[in-house]
Amino acid sequence: MRQVWIPKAGPPEVLELREARDPIPKQGELRIRVAAAGVNFADVMGRLGLYPDLPPMPVVPGYEVAGRIDAVGDGVESDWVGRDVLAMTRFGGYADAVCVPEAQVSTRPPGMTAEEGAALPVNYLTAWQLLFVMGSLHAGETMLVHSAGGGVGIAATQLAKYVGARVFGTASAGKHDRLKALGVDACIDYTREDFEARVRELTHGRGVELILDAVGGASFMKSYRSLAPTGRLGMFGMSAAAAGKSRSLLRALGPALRTLRLRFKARRLIDQNKGVFGVNVGHLWDEGDRVASWMERLLALYVEGVVRPVVDRSFPLERAAEAHHYIQDRKNFGKVLLTA
Ligand SMILES: NC(=O)c1ccc[n+]([C@@H]2O[C@H](COP(=O)([O-])OP(=O)(O)OC[C@H]3O[C@@H](n4cnc5c(N)ncnc54)[C@H](OP(=O)(O)O)[C@@H]3O)[C@@H](O)[C@H]2O)c1
Repeated sequence: MRQVWIPKAGPPEVLELREARDPIPKQGELRIRVAAAGVNFADVMGRLGLYPDLPPMPVVPGYEVAGRIDAVGDGVESDWVGRDVLAMTRFGGYADAVCVPEAQVSTRPPGMTAEEGAALPVNYLTAWQLLFVMGSLHAGETMLVHSAGGGVGIAATQLAKYVGARVFGTASAGKHDRLKALGVDACIDYTREDFEARVRELTHGRGVELILDAVGGASFMKSYRSLAPTGRLGMFGMSAAAAGKSRSLLRALGPALRTLRLRFKARRLIDQNKGVFGVNVGHLWDEGDRVASWMERLLALYVEGVVRPVVDRSFPLERAAEAHHYIQDRKNFGKVLLTA
């Protein structure tokens, strides 16, 4: 089988395709013959050497796959073999085959393609946690989502519209028409407009009830100021630190320092009736049952036609570098995948 490795931090071209023996599933694991693997912004950050969760290099990145079970380890029912599945992988997803603990694997509902399956876990579980587990989004409220045209942004938009919320989204201008078609009520071109001023204008000075911010740095404080009374700010990433295609701690330092300097004073939170929270689905491996229950709800919503992963482009595994360029060039609308 083939795997894509990050041998050292650097530009997309450091990604290296290597041959390896098929992995053998251990006790409680299943082996997935991968048809499609999700490419996440975290993989880009990892390749840049800016992602502390990534195991030491050389490493095979990849948080999610879809494919077919072709072997099981001890303690796993053999009737899994031959099933079409999707799964969260704790790295190792950029490959033709990967072994995963049973708790992280779900059977794909009828009609769900491997591409849709690989596009779903990270983006939709993150959106679910942000909107409903911690963000408490309700009908009639307004949500602002940054990078609305990315994988999480589109997932969050679909779920917010489903519960009857209004959605504002920041994105590069070329994505606005497609966002409006998905139901986004107001698009903000963050390259030309100040989103804080625009939110104030759109809400007549009041602000919005929920903000999803994975840009980080100065954006967190601007988002905080854009909250209405009872508003909640969900922080879940720092894409501002990925300011170039090669590793540059200097470029990452500004957003990192601005994030470190954030101070949410208890007294101010109380008096302003505002909440702040953080989300990292990659740190919930010990909460398997809860995450599995969110996945069950998401798959039911897929069957209902509410959850509809938007796949922008699939690159063959050996062209993983192009997939990373595509995302860093801000070209993607929705999910980018690697296919076997
Ligand atoms: N904590 C978690 O559990 C979790 C899970 C998933 C994702 N995340 C975070 O959420 C954010 C979005 O993830 P995603 O998977 O939805 O992203 P994605 O699909 O890879 O989207 C990338 C988009 O983000 C925008 N962007 C903003 N800053 C950028 C930068 N410095 N370089 C390149 N593009 C930038 C660009 O769109 P526009 O120019 O149109 O804005 C780009 O097209 C990332 O920061 C990611 O790390 C966190």
